[in-house]
Amino acid sequence: MTVSATGGEKRVRDDLQEILLDATTLAVRIEQLGQEIARDYADNVPVCICILRGAAPFLTDLTRATPIHLQIDYMAVSSYGGATRTSGVVRILKDLETSIEGRHVIIVEDIVDSGLTLAYLRDQLLRRQPASLKICALLRKDCPRVVDVPIDYLGFDIPDRFVVGYGLDYRQLYRNLPYVGVLRPEAIQE
Ligand code: IMP
Ligand code: MG
Repeated sequence: MTVSATGGEKRVRDDLQEILLDATTLAVRIEQLGQEIARDYADNVPVCICILRGAAPFLTDLTRATPIHLQIDYMAVSSYGGATRTSGVVRILKDLETSIEGRHVIIVEDIVDSGLTLAYLRDQLLRRQPASLKICALLRKDCPRVVDVPIDYLGFDIPDRFVVGYGLDYRQLYRNLPYVGVLRPEAIQE
């Protein structure tokens, strides 16, 4: 039996209530963020830290839109398990391979919800004495933050809904969608 690509796309799309940010909207804003970062770091070689796994597509597109010398490193943290609300417990699953002491660091994250993940990461990375530390987040949910973290570069403010796509997952699925969408409640099993 042949499975058509269109059929597969339709099934994934069927799990979504609506598309919040389409591929073009994402690309336009990310291009602007890249230009902004390039201006701010014209005299430095920043280290962009991608928070795995969700921020991977964003990091890739963002750094390609940032026409200066920069370095990339990866960190993996876990805070959600399989649920759609944070457990509040953040763990480092994979640490950096670069020393960031004396370096200009930009944390690149997919989404700020409670703020716990970024607050924890910021605290951990500041202990390593970088020359500067800024945060770039693609999305920020319009909800009361448990911890307030300063976001220096922000893609979009979005409503307080559970979103997937463009790196964001639900149970490790949907990360490959080229857009950000809202999952239908029926597709969520808690
Ligand atoms: P926070 O610690 O509550 O701010 O949550 C941040 C992390 O939770 C992000 O790095 C995401 O991995 C995940 N997360 C938060 N909201 C969503 C969502 O709507 N969809 C998918 N993942 C999310
Ligand atoms: Mg994440």
